[in-house]
Amino acid sequence: MTAFEPRVFSGVQPTGNLHLGNYLGAITRFVALQDSYPCIYCVVDMHAITVWQEPEELTNAIRSVAAAFIAAGIDPDKHVIFNQSQVHEHAELAWIFNCVARMGWLNRMTQFKEKAGKDRENASVGLFAYPSLMAADILAYKATHVPVGEDQKQHLELTRDIAQKFNYDFAERIAELGFGDAYFPLTEPIIQGPATRIMSLRDGSKKMSKSDPSDYSRINLTDDRDAISQKIRKAKTDPEPLPSELKGLESRPEAQNLVGIYAALANSTSEQVLTDFGGAPFATFKPALAELAVEMLAPVNAEMRRLLADPGHLDQILAKGADQAAEIAAPVIDGAKDIVGFVTSRRKRTAERSVA
Ligand code: AMP
Ligand code: TRP
Repeated sequence: MTAFEPRVFSGVQPTGNLHLGNYLGAITRFVALQDSYPCIYCVVDMHAITVWQEPEELTNAIRSVAAAFIAAGIDPDKHVIFNQSQVHEHAELAWIFNCVARMGWLNRMTQFKEKAGKDRENASVGLFAYPSLMAADILAYKATHVPVGEDQKQHLELTRDIAQKFNYDFAERIAELGFGDAYFPLTEPIIQGPATRIMSLRDGSKKMSKSDPSDYSRINLTDDRDAISQKIRKAKTDPEPLPSELKGLESRPEAQNLVGIYAALANSTSEQVLTDFGGAPFATFKPALAELAVEMLAPVNAEMRRLLADPGHLDQILAKGADQAAEIAAPVIDGAKDIVGFVTSRRKRTAERSVA
């Protein structure tokens, strides 16, 4: 079996406000992995435009996500932070994958069904093809591990299906060209911790989301102390006190959600939170949660503001990251083109010219 160097890749869309779900389900996990793996974290602006984005807001949102990555603790001197559209290799590989993935596979994607809603005829073609671009993001770097929230699980399974079909369909070429028995790895999702699916504060059956019309449904990374406290105070709950064991949270989705949020913010587990707060009413637990949330989010919020005050500096970080990303992705995409059978003489001529 071909061995692949371990590498982490993940992406966040620059659409609307980043919220606690993005932060706890994804970004803090990105931070946690940076001591163990080389990491590439991408602001996926090409994914964002699968639904309409106001151009100026998009530009600001790209910088905001980059600022959130850095404010949360990702070190841009040690790892790669960039925005997707600056590295054209993503689009090139996505096209090849559009020709590997089957209509039937994409038709099964629940995120497409949710986002397209009833008016499928009016959804962009990009929204439908979104998962093959996501596979290209990951496989352009032959990434082996991808930290994400629970909602991305199906897309990562599709990424493995695409890698497997490519490896299988082109097996002979892959071997002939000296790439061994597999060109792309079968990427492992990392979906771990108490916050892989943070729910709306207004409705424990709906995921916390950027697109929920009620701002009280989510805590935004840009919310100040008062907004955070007020949203937690107003969060929907039931009248019972907290149980002392996990079993007691079953069929209490709102309580389960707040306990999970506390556990994730405290870098603890839901079990431990229930050991500490079992028997307490929400009148006691909510203020404790609000205090913890403010304490953990205030420094991130302040650092994001500081970074966003200097967009030129953020753009420099993104440009440097894009150069580093392209350096890794270019040979991978060149190999994929050779495997497919494309004639790539222009690329070779350009390479010779830059050596001369
Ligand atoms: P998106 O904003 O859709 O680009 O999501 C960025 C990352 O945040 C992905 O890894 C998602 O799985 C994760 N994420 C989004 N919403 C939630 C949520 N409510 N709970 C946990 N993770 C989430
Ligand atoms: N689809 C992901 C989301 O909505 C974002 C994303 C795009 C991504 N490309 C990726 C996540 C590659 C992980 C790896 O959250």
